[in-house]
Parts: sequence; structure tokens; C-alpha cells
Amino acid sequence: MLTVDRAKYCHESDPYLDRPRRIGYNVTISAPHMHAYALSILSNQLSDGAKALDVGSGSGYLSACMAYMVGSHGRVIGIEHIPELIEISTRNVREDNPHFLKESRIKFIVGDGRLGHAADGPYNAIHVGAAADTLPQELIDQLAPGGRLICPVVAIEGFQRFQDLLQVDKNADGTITKKKLMQVSYVPLTDPTTQLRN
Ligand SMILES: C[S@@+](CC[C@H](N)C(=O)[O-])C[C@H]1O[C@@H](n2cnc3c(N)ncnc32)[C@H](O)[C@@H]1O
Repeated sequence: MLTVDRAKYCHESDPYLDRPRRIGYNVTISAPHMHAYALSILSNQLSDGAKALDVGSGSGYLSACMAYMVGSHGRVIGIEHIPELIEISTRNVREDNPHFLKESRIKFIVGDGRLGHAADGPYNAIHVGAAADTLPQELIDQLAPGGRLICPVVAIEGFQRFQDLLQVDKNADGTITKKKLMQVSYVPLTDPTTQLRN
């Protein structure tokens, strides 16, 4: 994270504050401690040459950190449903680490991240940066054996509604192991109309 300058991705004041900051379109760049946590949980899967999917790539910051970790033979797909954020994230990476784009180490695509992006899979690491109502099966299907997905998922207990950050590991035989990591607070994984209406 020290090699990817957050100020190039977060154009509000105080880009280095350990808080979410607005990036427009009713969403935020997540707080640095959440990015650090996600990268550390995925660090074994973000090894040299690995393939990663960043769902809800927003500012492009986390995708750039992942691209640094997977090295020049790796590949990161950032998928985002707001086309303007894809333009902004591409510009941010071009200003910060232009070789990530020239080498095709990062590719940003417009799409519904709930469906993933099977064309470039399977992925060793999948990060979901917005809270899903239910764990998207398409994303689990796009994990490689040995791969790991982390995704915030809405949980309801009585009148309480909260989010659990779930870790999903695909074992060598294709079976799945799930683990709750902690409670979190993310923007929803939704459709553009709902996101822009709020
Ligand atoms: C908390 S922000 C993630 C920030 C990002 N990790 C960063 O570093 O800037 C969540 C992102 O998910 C996007 N998003 C929400 N629902 C989506 C969907 N169905 N498909 C793709 N992107 C989605 C939002 O537009 C937003 O950019």
C-alpha cells in the first residue's frame, strides 16, 4: 500500500485519513485499514503471476495494490457497474502506475460484479468491495482450486441487520470452506439505479 499513492485515487481532502472517503456516485473508497485487512487475508493468493478479480473496483486503488502484488506476470480485473468510475479509475492508475495498464496487468471493465467476469477466470483471489444480499454463486464458480474469495454479506437476526465479511476458500477437490471474519459496514452490492437514487 505504500507503493500505491492513495492521494491519486481519492480526490477529497485528507486522502490519507483512515476513514472511507467519498469518490462520487454515492460510494466511497474504503478506509485504508479495510484495504490492508483485505490484502493481508488474500496475500497468499495474490502471489507472483496470480489472477485476481476486484468486484466494485471504484477508485481503482485496491486493484492497483493487487496488481503490485501479483507482479508483471499476474493480472487483475476490476469490475465496476458505474461507467464514469471506470473512466476515473483508469485515469487514476494512468497517473499513478501507467505501466500497469500498458502491460495489461490491470483491466477495468463495466459490468455487474455479482456475475463476476468468467471470460478471464478462474481467479486465485476475488475481492468484493460492496455488501451482497447473498453470497453470489457465480463468484464462487469463478474461483480457481486453492483460490480465496472475501465478500461482505448482509445478515439479519431478529430486527438487527448487519454485514459479515465472509471468507470462502475453494479446496483442491473443488469443495468450499466458509468462515466469518468479522462484522463490517460496506455500501451495497446493487444495481446502478438503486445506487444513484439513494
Ligand atoms: C466501497 S466501494 C469500493 C471501493 C474500492 N475498493 C476502492 O478502492 O475505491 C464499492 C464499489 O462497488 C460498486 N458496486 C456496487 N454494486 C456493484 C455491482 N453490482 N457491480 C459492480 N460494482 C458495484 C460501487 O459503484 C462502488 O464503486
